Amino acid sequence: MPERLCALSELKESTPLRVELPQLDLAVVKVRDEIFAIEDLCSHAEYPLSDGDVQGCAIECELHGSRFDLRTGKPTGPPANQPVAVFETSVIDGVVYAELENN
Ligand code: FES
Repeated sequence: MPERLCALSELKESTPLRVELPQLDLAVVKVRDEIFAIEDLCSHAEYPLSDGDVQGCAIECELHGSRFDLRTGKPTGPPANQPVAVFETSVIDGVVYAELENN
């Protein structure tokens, strides 16, 4: 079952929204026509990625500057060297959902 994350109208362009779910917390980011959902936990020292900046399809951790690709969760800039989980999203009737169970 897809998990409801937020209303599409809550998302501002390239501005992470922290969504707290029972299983995990997500940073949800709208970049142009795409919506990304990445676990809200930097793999370097477990800091919330939703506090960081987004440039293009990259999110930068505010604490030590690691960068992650929002499409894959892979680190693209140090010090992090482990990926962060990403989840497929969909929008139905103005509501954003993520598929959590496939990951
Ligand atoms: S906690 Fe994110 S870069 Fe260190």
